[in-house]
Order: sequence, then C-alpha cells, then structure tokens
Amino acid sequence: MSDNNHSPNEYHQWYYNTEVWLDVRYLGVPCYKSVSDMWNYQEILQELRPSLIVEFGTRFGGSALFFSVTGRAINPDLKVLSVDIGHEDVDARVYQDPAIYLQTSSSTDPAVALRIQSMRAHAPGPVFFILDSDHRKEHVLAEMELLRSVVMSGDYLVVEDGNINGNPVLPGWGEGPSEAIRAYQERYPDDYHVDTEREAKFGFTFSPGGFLIKR
Ligand SMILES: C[S@@+](CC[C@H](N)C(=O)[O-])C[C@H]1O[C@@H](n2cnc3c(N)ncnc32)[C@H](O)[C@@H]1O
Repeated sequence: MSDNNHSPNEYHQWYYNTEVWLDVRYLGVPCYKSVSDMWNYQEILQELRPSLIVEFGTRFGGSALFFSVTGRAINPDLKVLSVDIGHEDVDARVYQDPAIYLQTSSSTDPAVALRIQSMRAHAPGPVFFILDSDHRKEHVLAEMELLRSVVMSGDYLVVEDGNINGNPVLPGWGEGPSEAIRAYQERYPDDYHVDTEREAKFGFTFSPGGFLIKR
C-alpha cells in the first residue's frame, strides 16, 4: 500500500532537489518548469485568451514553444515575444515557429518596453507576462518597474522562481523574486491583485506569491 502522508512541500523539495525540472521537455525541447505550473498557465491562457505573451528568459526555448503552441490553439493570432541576453542554445523548432519573436537584449533594456508597446498596438488584447530570467531581487524588481509602462488592467503577470531562498528550496541563495515582489508591493500596493487561489491549485508552485493580475 502506498504512503499517503507526503505533503505538497515534501513533493516540492523532491521535485526541485532531484533537478527533474532540468529534464522537463516540451515537444522535445527543455523547459525549466514545474509541470503543474505549466498546466496552470494553460488554464490561465484559456481564460485570458491573450493576443500576446511576453517571456523574459528564453534559454532553450521550450517554454516559448509551449506558450506559442498552447496560446495559438486558443487564439490563432497570438504572438510570443521572448527576451534573453543570448539565444545561442535555442532549439531549431523554436526558430521555425511562426509566432515566436526572439529579442536578444537584457529584459530591463528600455527597448523591450518599446517593442512590447509596438506589438500591443498591432495586436490589441490581453497580455500574459512571465519573468524567468536573472532571478536576483534587483533584476526582477527592475523588470517589474519596466513593465509598469506597458501593463494594462486585466493583464496577467507571473513572476517565477520565488520558491528559491528558502521558500522552500535553496535556502541561503540570497534575495530573489519573492523579495522583489514584496519590495514592488510596498512601492505600488495597488498595482496587482495576487491570485492566491490559482497559485494554490496544484499544491505547490515554483512561483509563490507570483501569480499577479493587473488591477
Ligand atoms: C531559467 S532560464 C529560462 C528558462 C526558460 N524560460 C524555460 O522555462 O525553459 C534563464 C534565462 O535568463 C537569461 N538571462 C539572464 N540574465 C538576463 C537578462 N538580464 N535579461 C534577459 N535574460 C537574461 C539567461 O541567459 C537564461 O537563458
């Protein structure tokens, strides 16, 4: 008989510490995520029906491919903008995807905000944003500051990897996304509603406190 006493927290520790997430693949392309977070994103996309998805942090492009294929099943006109300081490791299938636009720059470069504004103008509708680049507090806070000029009411923002620095994984990592979210909320308490119900749905998430809806 199986032992049913394991908590979501224990599963979270197992999932993270075994590094199985480094071997999660979407259509064969590495995608560094919790698979239950990905399912949650799919459900958010179905409800939001975005015209644009903006991702900071491309890596191999598995997540960009996931967002493009899933998002276009919901809205065939969807575009995906994925920003990274380097795109050397991106899989060929990502380059072949007609809806994915790669921008090679820091996610905090002001040109990123201009690009988003321009894409929004050509494809009006809600936007799903996801931050998964440099996880240090100051960088994530700077990304959230940059997005202030482009987010609109009803847009969805996921700030990933707030689970590090002991929430509950990688204690001692240093200040990261969770601390950035808290600092942002102190500066701008009215900007976002925290979607705690969505976050809690599958028991654990790599992004505690990071499911945000623009008011
Ligand atoms: C965790 S990986 C992204 C994983 C990808 N989103 C996925 O789910 O498979 C983080 C990426 O952030 C990029 N990165 C680091 N600093 C950055 C910055 N300042 N601006 C944009 N991207 C950055 C790295 O090059 C790396 O590819």
